[in-house]
Amino acid sequence: MARRHHKVLAPRGTVPRPAPEGPPPTLLVLHAEELVTLAGDARPRRGKEMRDLRAIPDGALYAVEGVIRDVGDSRALAARYENAGEVLDATGKTVVPGLVDAHTHLVFAGSREDELEWKAEGMSYQEIAARGGGILHTVSETRKASEEALYVSAHARLDGMLAHGTTTVEAKTGYGLSIDDEMKLLRVLERLQESHPATVVPTFLGAHAIPPEYGGRADAYVDLLTREALPSVAAKTRARFCDVFVEDGYFTSDQARRLLSEAERLGLSSKVHADEFTDSGGAALAAEVGAVSADHLVHASSDGIRKMAERGTIAVLLPASSLASRIPLAKARHFVEMGVPVALGTDFNPNCWTDSMALVVSLAAHQLGLTPAEALTAATLNAAYAVGLGREVGSLEVGKRADFLLVDAPDHRQLAYRIGGRVVEAVVKDGSVVWRAPRGAP
Ligand code: NIG
Ligand code: FE
Repeated sequence: MARRHHKVLAPRGTVPRPAPEGPPPTLLVLHAEELVTLAGDARPRRGKEMRDLRAIPDGALYAVEGVIRDVGDSRALAARYENAGEVLDATGKTVVPGLVDAHTHLVFAGSREDELEWKAEGMSYQEIAARGGGILHTVSETRKASEEALYVSAHARLDGMLAHGTTTVEAKTGYGLSIDDEMKLLRVLERLQESHPATVVPTFLGAHAIPPEYGGRADAYVDLLTREALPSVAAKTRARFCDVFVEDGYFTSDQARRLLSEAERLGLSSKVHADEFTDSGGAALAAEVGAVSADHLVHASSDGIRKMAERGTIAVLLPASSLASRIPLAKARHFVEMGVPVALGTDFNPNCWTDSMALVVSLAAHQLGLTPAEALTAATLNAAYAVGLGREVGSLEVGKRADFLLVDAPDHRQLAYRIGGRVVEAVVKDGSVVWRAPRGAP
């Protein structure tokens, strides 16, 4: 039988739509200098496990219709699948699982570059909000925007994320803050799920801030969310999580407890924006309610971290957000040493406009003190568990989606080592090459 080996090629320097005919029926990747599998038990990694990448030298992977069917050594797989429809030669490259961005606020209108000037004057996040910037400024822009405009801008943002290696993205609402406006954002997320190659995981964040019409009546707003919004969200949308911003001037632990217990009753899992600006007991609350993750955690107490370790709550750390808000970094080593599974996210939002998980991996290694291997585990498998998809994505194992990156380096540590450069050479999602670096980059 004639061999049909040829390289998978996609137009360079563009973000092509997925091929209308879907992924190649069979795809064989050969000769990765290192193929990082992260294979092992089906659960998030903690402690020393976060350094165990289970990398295969001269690694290979075989996928059928977008699903991984075999992973191993190149010599064995080349012999076993010599009739593969498409062959990708990874000589000189590292293959790693597609990155998972565990925390974004993807859908909003407008931008807030004026706040950079206020930050230069020394204003804090809270002072900027009091001056008319911050979340409520974006809420007013987002309420005015059409569903179509929000969809188009969010789609372009996902394209940007994909080009930096992100194949799965958690995406929160939270700039509508009325039932109709939040539903508009959830419809946008549903349309993105249908149309974009990235996997999108919607989170309902109606409790992002107290909307102006409820000023001074936070409990009444929490009643609206609990009694009216949540039942519709659970029944009519694909939201998988309910999140709440627990912080001075936003929501209290008691309000969050009330909201999240109703969300859980209705089938939504919980997340908490916890201890970002102050220790407000968010880490302990997340553990208490059985949240899948607590996010930010800059000021989390040792007691809160211990409770997260006991309960298995995942810590989603957001180093780019600390840079943008000019606040300290979370104590990542403390979480790892206490046995809390650590994950990463961009926190893409109008205050922290970065679409690059590759940058976040570098920040994690250079600033949070994670090793490159820990940062990679946090940005793939642990992030996949943080968004409820740990059994589908996040590692390169038989039965999982064929979501992976070709990194333009023979050593996985280069992904963390290079800061803000173009290190991702190709992005494969569900077995199709969906992005390739322009020739000559980086
Ligand atoms: O995760 N902390 C609360 N929410 C966002 C910021 C949203 C905004 O400033 O628009 C965050 O950092
Ligand atoms: Fe956030």
